[in-house]
Amino acid sequence: MQPPIRTLGVVGTGVIGAGWAARALAHGLRVVAWDPAPGWQARLTAAVDNAWPALEKVGLYRGASVDRLRCVDSMDAVCEAADFIQESAPEQLALKRSLHERIDAAARSSVIVASSTSGLLPTELQSRCRHPHRLVVGHPFNPVYLLPLVEVLGGTRTSAESVTRAIAFYRDLGMHPLRVRTEIEGFLSDRLQEALWRELLHLVNDGVATTEELDAAIVYGPGLRWAFMGTCLTFHMAGGDAGMDHFMKQFGPALKLPWTRLEAPELTDTLVERMAHGTRRQAAGRTVKELERLRDDCLIAIMQALRQYEVGAGRTLAEDEARRLGEKRNGTKPGG
Ligand SMILES: NC(=O)c1ccc[n+]([C@@H]2O[C@H](COP(=O)([O-])OP(=O)(O)OC[C@H]3O[C@@H](n4cnc5c(N)ncnc54)[C@H](O)[C@@H]3O)[C@@H](O)[C@H]2O)c1
Repeated sequence: MQPPIRTLGVVGTGVIGAGWAARALAHGLRVVAWDPAPGWQARLTAAVDNAWPALEKVGLYRGASVDRLRCVDSMDAVCEAADFIQESAPEQLALKRSLHERIDAAARSSVIVASSTSGLLPTELQSRCRHPHRLVVGHPFNPVYLLPLVEVLGGTRTSAESVTRAIAFYRDLGMHPLRVRTEIEGFLSDRLQEALWRELLHLVNDGVATTEELDAAIVYGPGLRWAFMGTCLTFHMAGGDAGMDHFMKQFGPALKLPWTRLEAPELTDTLVERMAHGTRRQAAGRTVKELERLRDDCLIAIMQALRQYEVGAGRTLAEDEARRLGEKRNGTKPGG
């Protein structure tokens, strides 16, 4: 029987590390964090403060408080205090591999060490670890404190028990852990997102559409459907009463048309400037923090709307609330 997870260790406190910190604090855990960049403590505190109103709207666990965040001055101090470690350092294989070697040397061997990597393989990350059995990937989505999806997978030397324990922990944090059964680069969700992103960059590069038009092409149509049914079930309905069979027969041949491009376009200065200029116009003077609060309000509204139908993120939200109310009644905590 493993001891309960009371303290989350966060290594790397940028966009994703801060999101993990906020989610864990809202679930009543303690968080101990470290980052090597100058001024990281102030940025982390500001990010958690910016997320907190959204987390209050969703509902806080007993004991949830920003005061449970402790910024420490070394990675070893994180490893010493943490019951579960989430690494969210920059996406560079060499950096992450040596970081995991150091975390592995400093953390108790029973502590799970997870990487937030968006696509690097856990087998590579654990290659220099003495206790590779406890390394998993737990790939979240931004904003981590609201979006429930976390893709979970182990490398060739990860134990099945570690994957199971990570999945249980993430579930206690109100998430939807999706077990990735085959270790592939990019996992599942980013493979899908990258395909869309690649096409989008081509369309901007070729001057076919602006960033605003391409965002409209998703927001008013496919994006609304994706929140509750995904692509496969949506296309099943697009085939009428005969479903996917008919859909494949009707639209399958179109897959052979040269509509899509497999190679990414060259990231020229012109393309980068078009993307930056287009999205600045769309932001219309709003800061990223202001946009984040708007995004959070919209996400909460969508999740709360989906709750009554018990689908997608709405179901995860309802399950987390049931746990939170149970915790209030029984006095237990997530990870306990
Ligand atoms: N941004 C996203 O949408 C997103 C989504 C899912 C997963 N991820 C993954 O999360 C990880 C972090 O991404 P991010 O977007 O938060 O990046 P980021 O640039 O916002 O943050 C990275 C942080 O790591 C710190 N850092 C630098 N060197 C370090 C070291 N040696 N040890 C520890 N920390 C170090 C930096 O100071 C910075 O604060 C990456 O692996 C990325 O692929 C990102």
